[in-house]
Amino acid sequence: MKTRTSAKQLTAKFSLLIALCLGSIAYAQGSPTEGVSAVYGLVVEPGGSSGSETNLLMATEYGLLRATPGGTSQRVGSLDIALSTLAIQPGDPDRLFLSGFGADGNPVGLYTSADVGGEWAPALDNDQVRNALRSLAISPVNQSLMIALTDEIQISDDSGKTWTGAENTPDQTFSVAPSTIRTGTIYAATMTGLLMSEDEGASWAQTYAQETPVTMVKALSGNRIIAFVFGIGLVSVVEPSADWQVLASGFEDRYVLNLAEHPDNPNILFASMDTGALLTSRNGGKSWISFEGSNHATPERLALGKQLFEENCQACHGSKGIGESPGDPEARDEFGFKAPALNDDMHAWHHGDANLVATIQNGSPRNQRMVPFGEFLSDEDIENTLAYVKSLWSIRSLTCQGSRHMGCLGN
Ligand code: HEC
Repeated sequence: MKTRTSAKQLTAKFSLLIALCLGSIAYAQGSPTEGVSAVYGLVVEPGGSSGSETNLLMATEYGLLRATPGGTSQRVGSLDIALSTLAIQPGDPDRLFLSGFGADGNPVGLYTSADVGGEWAPALDNDQVRNALRSLAISPVNQSLMIALTDEIQISDDSGKTWTGAENTPDQTFSVAPSTIRTGTIYAATMTGLLMSEDEGASWAQTYAQETPVTMVKALSGNRIIAFVFGIGLVSVVEPSADWQVLASGFEDRYVLNLAEHPDNPNILFASMDTGALLTSRNGGKSWISFEGSNHATPERLALGKQLFEENCQACHGSKGIGESPGDPEARDEFGFKAPALNDDMHAWHHGDANLVATIQNGSPRNQRMVPFGEFLSDEDIENTLAYVKSLWSIRSLTCQGSRHMGCLGN
């Protein structure tokens, strides 16, 4: 599966990060989140959590959207801006900052809201940085310190009112983060590696050894800095250490663009991927499942789902979903097919959750052996079974699930 990627292909691959190409604003309320192909900023919606359900706010070309684990998204507030970034104030989680392009296509600078996106006002004192910011981070140690990225790294020490350009900005910087312990220290995720400056951007040095593209860097609670190194995965340090450890691998050719943490539980993380897919982790980033359906993927429900699968599906779809006669691709049943693999091997993951639920509920019109299980299993049983099936998928399949698989072909 693994292919070598040339520098040219990589530049094309990261074009999403290099140039924001934002379309017109048109969004239907309650659309499947699957329709969102690019997320430019991600935060946990303040007050948007109950039990295993947590809603996220995403910066998209359609404006500010709420994504639910049920797989739908809704517009939040009435700001008509195609967004390029989104940040939340660590000490005041009702306060949001965003940037992007207005309906006239011009960059709007920085906007802020003190009531979770209800009312927005420009955060700038004047026309400085009247750009679309591409990355925005607020220091967890010094709440009025903000670091942003336009064509260059910008620093504000008055909550975004006034800004100063850093003396030097590394080439092709994708994302910036402040240190969690030292005020003058900044991290930059760049095309040629993860860099650190200890003098507010005057000079830079490699902090992660490899000179491979780093698509994202984020400062989190507990003095954690997490970055995504292309081809390696998520790497992290707990400051002041600079001894980077691989937190999670197995992303293959996909990459993380944004990271958010749950305000009440630092082990619960959320990520947006290069395809726009949302993932979530319950163990501080070590393993990831898809955000869509994560409300069904509790350990208890996964155990029930496994049992339901073994009792109702395994006879045809094989142990752990390997499919019927996986060793014999020529095998056929009386209708001309065998039950396909439901793990990564076939293309079950080319279907979105709603589509898979419908097949399980209604059966297949093409093969009478795939009976309508809606007659025997409750909706919750089917959700649990699907949660188990999705637990058999790789991070890549979760990232490319449903209509997104098209965008994963050939790049
Ligand atoms: C008696 C055999 C049999 C059993 C039992 C069975 N299936 Fe199937 N299933 C099939 C066959 C055959 C197909 C292929 C249908 C087609 O090609 O249209 C299929 C197709 C599917 C698909 C579509 C896969 C794709 O890639 O499009 C899903 C999802 C699925 N089954 C889930 C389940 C689940 C979940 C269960 C248990 C609740 C189950 N099946 C039980 C035989 C079975």
